[in-house]
Amino acid sequence: MKYTQTFESFIGKLVKQSQSHSVYQDPKHHDRLIKTGKDVLEHANVFKQNSEYCPIVYEVHEGDEPYIVIEKLETDKATIDYERLINKDRGYVHNWGYNTFKNNKSFQTVKDTLTTEEGKQMFDRIREIVLAIGMKDIHTRNFGYDKKGKLKALDL
Ligand SMILES: Nc1ncnc2c1ncn2[C@@H]1O[C@H](COP(=O)(O)OP(=O)(O)OP(=O)(O)O)[C@@H](O)[C@H]1O
Ligand SMILES: [Mg+2]
Repeated sequence: MKYTQTFESFIGKLVKQSQSHSVYQDPKHHDRLIKTGKDVLEHANVFKQNSEYCPIVYEVHEGDEPYIVIEKLETDKATIDYERLINKDRGYVHNWGYNTFKNNKSFQTVKDTLTTEEGKQMFDRIREIVLAIGMKDIHTRNFGYDKKGKLKALDL
């Protein structure tokens, strides 16, 4: 709440608020977002080291209420693609998460359940991202496409 008041009053419009993060539109750049909240400085570090897999980091502001300015990804299409290409085919899988991607056999088992070539390709790309950044929170809302159509993770 503190963040909402502080930032809304002098920064951009609130785009998304979750329990641990608030995300605002950067008023100066339509293709950038301002993210505040839990562990944003750590996010910025991981994002910076993995710009191939994560949003580009434009600014990092430390202090009592740290915030970062990052590349805005196209999330609606990524969520729809993830649902339609992976979740729809996958059904229920136990221990879905980082370990599924880390372990070759479990990765392959899930991949074999996917019925489309497009889905298998997306799944390969997700694995690349997950292993590169040690992603734990793997779900439909934590991915987005950049301007070139490259899938990236927006959360860890
Ligand atoms: N770089 C980005 N580009 C586009 N949207 C973003 C970006 N970063 C965050 N968002 C939006 O803000 C939401 C919350 O961000 P984030 O995932 O970092 O926080 P969270 O606390 O884990 O919330 P959630 O439970 O929704 O995943 C995301 O689900 C997404 O819709
Ligand atoms: Mg998230």
